[in-house]
Amino acid sequence: TFVVTDNCIKCKYTDCVAVCPVDAFFEGPNFLAIDPAICIDCALCVPECPAEAIFQDTALPPGQEDYLAINAELSQQWPNITELKPAPADADEWNGVPDKLPLLEK
Ligand code: SF4
Ligand code: F3S
Repeated sequence: TFVVTDNCIKCKYTDCVAVCPVDAFFEGPNFLAIDPAICIDCALCVPECPAEAIFQDTALPPGQEDYLAINAELSQQWPNITELKPAPADADEWNGVPDKLPLLEK
């Protein structure tokens, strides 16, 4: 499965959902999660993310390992999202800020 990681938090550009062929994304207040049971490992979403926040579970950057379980858990709790929507007004200011996990809203 592919995994949404830390830099999506408070960026949530949603370009990823527009290309996913199986609608694997689920939307929280300031983050998206991929359902590992739906993702078919096509990798189409990876280059679409302006925050470079999506990685395969087998190639997560150091420190991002917890996001595998976070995606699995939160994708079961949040509604499906299938269309692009406007990013938060301050998304660009948060792009690249490290260690945003304490800011994740559930
Ligand atoms: Fe969807 Fe493909 Fe990304 Fe999985 S890897 S979330 S199937 S676009
Ligand atoms: Fe998040 Fe990137 Fe998608 S910031 S919403 S994973 S395009």
